[in-house]
Amino acid sequence: MDVLQSLDRNNLPRHIAIVMDGNGRWAKERGQDRVYGHHEGVISVRDIVNASAELGIEYLTLYAFSTENWKRPKTEVDALMELLVNTIRKEAEELKKNNVRLHVIGDFKSLPEICQRELDEAKSMTAMNTGLNLVLALSYSSRWEIVEAVKNIAVDISERKINPVQIDDKLFNSYLNTAAFPDPELMIRTSGEHRISNFLMYQLAYAELYFTNVHWPAFRRQNLYEALLNYQQRERRFGKTSEQIQTNDPHHV
Ligand code: IPE
Ligand code: IPE
Ligand code: MG
Repeated sequence: MDVLQSLDRNNLPRHIAIVMDGNGRWAKERGQDRVYGHHEGVISVRDIVNASAELGIEYLTLYAFSTENWKRPKTEVDALMELLVNTIRKEAEELKKNNVRLHVIGDFKSLPEICQRELDEAKSMTAMNTGLNLVLALSYSSRWEIVEAVKNIAVDISERKINPVQIDDKLFNSYLNTAAFPDPELMIRTSGEHRISNFLMYQLAYAELYFTNVHWPAFRRQNLYEALLNYQQRERRFGKTSEQIQTNDPHHV
């Protein structure tokens, strides 16, 4: 049966987060340079963005470059930054047309200026869009984000803008890069690694995790539909009992 047809449109995640992994291995398997894999990965990005928009997903966060990825060979980092600039330049019009709004999380100032400029332009070009929110995690890591949040909270306490007793989940969340977005209900990681790699550690507290051996350049909309179907077969309990969830009765014992 067609996977898309069997999806329950009333039980889709609002927010999907993806660790796009395996570009290098995909290329190596084909006797190509790692950078070739990154280029092919862009085609998957386009397909998954369009498929998510068509499904009515509200937020899609793509882990494109981690804080730790700066430690890769300079030639690969340079190629990735160049690919980023060219892709944003090429795709911005398309995003605008498709009602996709672009956001960026991560240490924006650490990106090359040309990247910052292209991203700023694409963000403002799409700022009025009301469809899919596409969030690119660039020079992002969860520990960096959490430490930044703590620093900013400390500053606001020292300036008496907030009081330590006010600190709770909600206030802490408002200091994260993702303050404006709901937590992802589904996290997908491609290419067979079963780890988080410093991605949205706070926000993924109750996310359903889905791992596939498919490398990112081979991950296309059919693979996304399969992940969504798998997500829909799970029971999300949030610490409660299965009976409570099934009867929708918070006091069920
Ligand atoms: C993901 O693919 C892309 C980035 C991290 C930028 P990789 O480049 O990590 O590919 P593998 O995991 O080495 O195969
Ligand atoms: C995670 O992939 C980061 C991105 C997909 C951008 P990595 O390939 O960098 O992760 P590790 O090093 O295998 O954990
Ligand atoms: Mg990798």
